[in-house]
This record gives sequence, C-alpha cells and structure tokens, in this order.
Amino acid sequence: MHNNDDMHNNKECPMSKDELFVAAREAMAKAHAPYSKFPVGAAIRAEDGKIYTGANIENLSFPEGWCAETTAISHMVMAGQRKITEVAVVAEKLALCPPCGGCRQRLAEFSGASTRIYLCDETGIRKTLALSDLLPHSFETEILG
Ligand code: THU
Repeated sequence: MHNNDDMHNNKECPMSKDELFVAAREAMAKAHAPYSKFPVGAAIRAEDGKIYTGANIENLSFPEGWCAETTAISHMVMAGQRKITEVAVVAEKLALCPPCGGCRQRLAEFSGASTRIYLCDETGIRKTLALSDLLPHSFETEILG
C-alpha cells in the first residue's frame, strides 16, 4: 500500500498517471468551446501532489479565448504552487492532442526539461513525452532574471 509520499514521489506510479488522465477527461467536459467545437481538458500534478485541471474557454472575439493547459496553470498558481511534475492532455476529437506552441512555453515556465507530458485518447494515456521533447531549444536567458 502506498503512503501519501510514495504515491506522489513515484514517477511511474500507474495509478497516479491514470488519476491524472481521468481528471483531464472530467475537465474536458467543462470546456466552453462553442466556436471550434473542439473540447480539450488538461490536468497538472504539482509539487504538492495535488491535481489542478482546466478546459479551453473560447470567446466570441476569437483571439480572446484560451487553452485548457492555460486554465490548469492558472488554477495551480492560484493555489500557491509553482512546480509542475506531470501533465495530461485530452481532446474529444483528436487522440494525442499536443499542447499548442504558446502552452508549451507556459508549461515550461513551471516545469523542468524532464517534466512528463501525457498525450491521451478517450481511453487513457497513449504517449509520454518530456517537456524538452515538446519544446527543444527553448527561450532561456539570465538577463531577465
Ligand atoms: N486548444 C487547447 O485547449 N489546447 C491545446 O493545446 C490545443 C488547442 C483549444 C484552443 C481552442 O479552444 C480549440 O482547442 C481549437 O483550437
């Protein structure tokens, strides 16, 4: 039986990964995507071991909408967390929906090179990538702090 610490420190714990997928799928059901009709859900596990979820939220003024990953990041940050350990993404109409370019950069802000990104279909995790696979040669400089 896992104690709480083991559960959250075990990087390959299948139960914990599945929990993240289920959370992303539940979040997807809350998407506000009347224009694209392309619901997306994301679930982030933060350093505290807790899961923060998000869905895409579109707007009649199209450029004002934002992605599921961005909603999930905002929930994590407002809970006082700053470090992502793993992320699951699921889209209703596209298996293995990769985070968009902007979301890769936003995820990178709170991740390490080896932070795991799970791309899912409707049944579960189908592909695992590291953040550095998704965002190689990322913008980094000490000039800005
Ligand atoms: N979308 C996400 O939520 N996450 C992604 O990484 C890819 C795209 C959303 C944005 C928009 O609401 C819809 O999918 C179609 O682009």
